[in-house]
Amino acid sequence: MVDIAQPGERIPIASDHAGFELKERLRTVLADLGYAVDDIGTHSTASTDYPDYAHPLSQQVSDGAAARGVLLCGTGLGMSYVANRYPGVRAAVVWSPEIAALARKHNDANVLVLPARFVSDEDAIAILRTWLDTPFEGGRHEARVSKIEQTNERNGADATGSPA
Ligand code: RB5
Repeated sequence: MVDIAQPGERIPIASDHAGFELKERLRTVLADLGYAVDDIGTHSTASTDYPDYAHPLSQQVSDGAAARGVLLCGTGLGMSYVANRYPGVRAAVVWSPEIAALARKHNDANVLVLPARFVSDEDAIAILRTWLDTPFEGGRHEARVSKIEQTNERNGADATGSPA
């Protein structure tokens, strides 16, 4: 379970070229809210490969070096594919504040992934703030989230995914 963000917390953020401009905006928002922003890059709109930025950020969250992080690319998809390969990382592609709230309440999302080409700056800021301030609900969601790291076999299901 990931506690809600506290001012002063170091929050890594990273994007590829498609997310660069929105990352710059969100970097300022995070700093204004009192977070210690760790900008992993990219640092311009020059074409780059999203995995080069998703890997180092996801490693930090997986290791516990950072409690949470923010990733941006054009669709959010490439960044989320990389991030969700890391143990303990729950990366959510989010396009509305409502989804941001549910990603925290139900899924304890510790990486926020924004589809920079498909959200306005204003929506992205509202999404970021909601994601930072919404606690995990726990309860029935606790067991579900802990099952994410299980394999099909360990979960007691047969090859079709049906409960054994
Ligand atoms: C870059 O053109 C784009 O493919 C990338 O930002 C992202 O959307 C990949 O998933």
